[in-house]
Amino acid sequence: MVGGPHPPRILVLNYPNNPTGSTYTADGLQALAAVARKYDAVVLSDEIYGELHFEGRHVSIARYYPEGTIISSGLSKWCGAGGWRLGTFFFPKQLRWLLEAMGAVASETYTSASAPIQYAAVRAFQGGMDIDRYLVRSRRILGALARESHRRLTAAGLAVAEPHGAFYLFPDFGPLRERFATRDLMRSDRICNALLSDTDVAILPGLAFDRPTDRGVDGPPGAGRFRRRQGPVGGSEPSAGRRHRHRFSGELLRAGARGGRPHLRLGHDLVEQSLATQRASSPSRRFSSAVRIN
Ligand SMILES: Cc1ncc(COP(=O)(O)O)c(C=O)c1O
Repeated sequence: MVGGPHPPRILVLNYPNNPTGSTYTADGLQALAAVARKYDAVVLSDEIYGELHFEGRHVSIARYYPEGTIISSGLSKWCGAGGWRLGTFFFPKQLRWLLEAMGAVASETYTSASAPIQYAAVRAFQGGMDIDRYLVRSRRILGALARESHRRLTAAGLAVAEPHGAFYLFPDFGPLRERFATRDLMRSDRICNALLSDTDVAILPGLAFDRPTDRGVDGPPGAGRFRRRQGPVGGSEPSAGRRHRHRFSGELLRAGARGGRPHLRLGHDLVEQSLATQRASSPSRRFSSAVRIN
């Protein structure tokens, strides 16, 4: 892989997805795997919501690209153990060099999970009937909530990708632009503040997702839940790689919205474009740049 004909590349996936709740079909995963293999890309697949696929039918991309996929997961989501922060990585043997490098960095950064968390994790990973029952119920409740929320938001005129897992929705308020303008709600943070004071419902604004704040309610401003990946604080100029990533995910979202289909289904051709145009920015870096699809 490293040392192959292409500069090293990494593709970061997350599905079921935060913040859209969308996921990939088996066909989509196979297409992505073929592109990743073509470019010798390492796939870092964040599947922390895999157990919360509403139908219990999550499929890892590692099935189609075992030699190049690292799966990251953890207890926070399916165990309802947010804040306990026990994460896991599954590496293929071909990427042992990367596992060792990561282990070295990790051991100097956080050393180990605390003993109580490790005991809880042992129980969680043992599995069993109780845990299976809990998961079946969780999926049923989350699926029902997501479907009903999706139905209502769509009926209200918002554009929302259909969720298939996790616990997020990412609606585009753009179609209601004119109505929002009459209340001076042309920024996602204002929409969130108004929603909170009018209805006691708290959502995250699109600007927490690096969506633009200065173009009114065009979209998607977003109302899900998302961690800011990285932030230029104080208005520093985004790097070329960062602009590239934003252009890429913007294209993906626009393509998804145009097709009226879940955003993530359209990934592989755009991933191919993006991987093909990534260039090594610094020879001292092992990876030239990263593509993260959200
Ligand atoms: C996509 C995704 N990956 C990983 C995490 C990490 O969760 P934690 O640090 O709570 O284990 C989160 C949490 O929100 C997430 O949404």
